[in-house]
Amino acid sequence: MTTSPNQKLYEGKAKILYSTGAANILLSVFKDDATAFNAQKRGTIQGKGAMNCTISSHLFRQLESAGIPTHFVGQLSENEMQVKAVTIIPIEVVIRNLAAGSLCKQTGLELGTLIAPPLVEFYYKNDELGDPLLTRDRLLLMKLATPDQVDQLANLALKINKILTDFFEDCGITLVDFKLEFGLDHTQQLILADEISPDTCRLWNQSETDPSRRVMDKDRFRNDLGEIESAYQLVMQRVLAHSI
Ligand code: TMP
Ligand code: ASP
Repeated sequence: MTTSPNQKLYEGKAKILYSTGAANILLSVFKDDATAFNAQKRGTIQGKGAMNCTISSHLFRQLESAGIPTHFVGQLSENEMQVKAVTIIPIEVVIRNLAAGSLCKQTGLELGTLIAPPLVEFYYKNDELGDPLLTRDRLLLMKLATPDQVDQLANLALKINKILTDFFEDCGITLVDFKLEFGLDHTQQLILADEISPDTCRLWNQSETDPSRRVMDKDRFRNDLGEIESAYQLVMQRVLAHSI
């Protein structure tokens, strides 16, 4: 489908999507706006749009080179990414390697408990309902995906986890957990979409042992830990210095 260029198609909490005029290609513009706790907490992280776009672009390139299909086409400027148009599957796929966040809150597991094999969870992408945790049966009941697609989502997520865990390990960073979104492109292929950044991952600096100093991700904003921009900058520097 060809559309006229520069039309705003969608505005989310962290990005705006525009048409480009090219068939099945959109422009994703990353914003400095930050939200947490289902947008109950709002703020701005200076330079976040540029850093997240640059980090995501680099990680999408690594994943593509490892054979993972993604929506990434190219980074156009520091906060603009060209992407393939997809129909987003309204499921947030969360992969956990160490216990943190809502898993600790809901299970009583101690922060940092090793999860092996990694946990794959599905959440309903729906702000009004507060992105609830889904079971496989509920997800199928709601027809959010077919049984085959659910298997594909879990398999792809675990593959991506292996690639990213090894990649971040090389950067001296522990990939604690992260969230992925997938979509169907115009050929109905299931591909990785959205972003992979300190907004959507928990990343712990292996050079720090102090539990609050080691945090390099949006938990610094969620939990008022300060020094958010410098943490994102350090992630960007280390990520850009490594390739798989
Ligand atoms: P959680 O522990 O709060 O469930 O978060 C798990 C991971 O998913 C964590 O890396 C942060 C990421 N995440 C998002 O990217 N968006 C969200 O809306 C939520 C709740 C979590
Ligand atoms: N992105 C989500 C929100 O704004 C939650 C989070 O990342 O903590 O509400």
